[in-house]
Amino acid sequence: MIIKDFRKILHGGDYNPDQWIHVPGTVDRDFELMDEAHCNTFSVAIFSWSQLEVEPDHFEFGWLDDVFERCAKSGKKLFLATPSASKPAWLAERWPDSRRADRAGHRDIQGSRQNSCFSSPGFRERVRIVDRKLAERYAKHPALGGWHISNEYHGECGCDLCRSRFHDFLRKRYGTLEKLNQAYWSAFWGHRFTDWRQVEPFDSSMDGAALDWWRFCTEVIVDFFRMEIDAVREFSDAPVTTNLMGLFPTLDYWKFAPLCDFISDDCYPTWYAGEAEREGASVSFRHDMHYSMRNKPFLVMESCPGIPNMMPYTKLRRPGEFEREMLLALGHGADGTMYFQWRKGRNNCEKFHGAVVGHDGSDRTMVFRRVASYGEKLERLSGLVDAVREPVAAVIYDWESNWALRESHFAGGNEIKKWDETIQNHYRALWNSNIDLAVIDSEQDFSRYKLLVLPMLFLFKPGVVERLRRFVEAGGTVVGTYFTGYVDECNNCQAGGNPGGEAGRDLFGVWSEDFDGLEPAARQSLVWNGKRYPVMDYAEILHPEGSAVEAVYGEDFYAGTPAVTFRKLGQGRAVYIGARTGMDFLNDFYGALIKKIGIDPVLPGVPDSVRAARRFAVDGGSYYFLYNLSKEAQTVKLPRKMCAVWEDGADVDSVTLSSDGATVLFAAGEARG
Ligand code: GLA
Ligand code: ZN
Repeated sequence: MIIKDFRKILHGGDYNPDQWIHVPGTVDRDFELMDEAHCNTFSVAIFSWSQLEVEPDHFEFGWLDDVFERCAKSGKKLFLATPSASKPAWLAERWPDSRRADRAGHRDIQGSRQNSCFSSPGFRERVRIVDRKLAERYAKHPALGGWHISNEYHGECGCDLCRSRFHDFLRKRYGTLEKLNQAYWSAFWGHRFTDWRQVEPFDSSMDGAALDWWRFCTEVIVDFFRMEIDAVREFSDAPVTTNLMGLFPTLDYWKFAPLCDFISDDCYPTWYAGEAEREGASVSFRHDMHYSMRNKPFLVMESCPGIPNMMPYTKLRRPGEFEREMLLALGHGADGTMYFQWRKGRNNCEKFHGAVVGHDGSDRTMVFRRVASYGEKLERLSGLVDAVREPVAAVIYDWESNWALRESHFAGGNEIKKWDETIQNHYRALWNSNIDLAVIDSEQDFSRYKLLVLPMLFLFKPGVVERLRRFVEAGGTVVGTYFTGYVDECNNCQAGGNPGGEAGRDLFGVWSEDFDGLEPAARQSLVWNGKRYPVMDYAEILHPEGSAVEAVYGEDFYAGTPAVTFRKLGQGRAVYIGARTGMDFLNDFYGALIKKIGIDPVLPGVPDSVRAARRFAVDGGSYYFLYNLSKEAQTVKLPRKMCAVWEDGADVDSVTLSSDGATVLFAAGEARG
């Protein structure tokens, strides 16, 4: 259970009553509406530091005490935030080094949020003080459900303190300048260092230094997160989390996960026309990662019940889309979905961001009615709490590979590398087959899966290739692609060739001699099982070294040479895909591969535009989730009778999903695989 002894699917959102103190009656009305919307959990005080500590050491807790009391009386729980995301003006004035500096060392203004320097001693100390005050006051309160540490941590700072911490980080990592010079290949352009302080954090001409900078930024923030956790832990043992931002590019969230008692995420899909399948796969991908991070249920901390205002088009959710989005999260392992935010503020950057309650305070809006109806149905799902998943295949997502690739200079730049998109496309092809998936990093245990996919795993961390080999020899299947294992952890290219140096070449049984970067007008294809599929952006020139050829190139001077290879090794197989293809090839290829390996869908026989997910309940039986990605109604014939828990609770052997619809079924007596 995310919140101790609170066996409910969590439902609620960010609640900012401190913005409404001057409007009498608002909080009374909020609590009526919260019950009407079947909400049970709220996050409070995220941006409230200046309303709690109005002057240094002058605290005013009245409004927050009131919210705690009301929640305790009405059986609701609170995730109390530490307010470090947004420092008060008095703090920035008295401790100017709390303001973050840019890469040129210029300090930021006080405004906005999430822009403090994580190294500033004054800022750290004031955060510790306010965190301890909050923890001391509310630790034992019955309404406290957990700690929402800060908000969407991120950012880099170029102040002198941060620079010198970066140099300390390098000293610890490399020990001697000699080692650093070697790791950075610093003789290139004559950059040899004779003092740690000479290393520029932002010299993007040094691919290894740039990679270390991103590692360092994660370490600084994780260290700050740990400091905040320690502050609340002095008084409280309630669970802690910090809200992640999915695939946010510059933080390695795998390093945050061990500090979180439960993972939480802010998730804002768009559902623009024609994108249901891509967007559905993309949100499932992040949910699967969040389940995989702790191997247990997570929480969607923020989602938008109306119009997310930061997107290119502020499109209203079409009927069905909102509930399908929420059920995608629950089906993929969430034990709750919450909103940003409960009530729309009347001014500033987010005044038009969809909230449960609008500016008019009405409960008659479409958004409010949808939320209330979803909340009511959630009350039938308390048996889902703690239900587990059993992923059989995993896709690897390592932030360090992304950084190494981004910081590696070559033609086309990051627009064409499309690292994120490529990984998600491989995942999407597997997701289209309705199998239970994990998204892991390369440091996790591989042995529980039958299939491991490493799209563009550009950087091989130490030991990974050996662990992959053991996985294959023991019967697993590995799929690598172009740009797999090109560099080591310093961003140095492999001396033993690609993919992955001698050990990687031996694992895949293939030598990738070079890659051909394809401009849009270039025509290339691969031919697999007699069918021709378009190839774009990249095609590697491959030479089998013990592997069989699965597919060949169709055009140009390397027509007829290998494009996909397949090696049997021990009890398993290693497949190498040398070129970027569209979804047509990936869908066909993975569809065939999982059949060959013997991986079954969680539910057989669902229509093409329907996806399925499954969770095993702790008390036995399983929950099946069905999602219609189309605008037409879809009927799903079930392999056996199941209880339509999301509808009227009848036993059914088929269900019809409306346009963009989704549902949940319960099959009693099913044992875990
Ligand atoms: C983020 C933040 C929230 C809010 C929403 C608006 O997820 O955490 O404070 O700004 O975005 O979309
Ligand atoms: Zn700084």
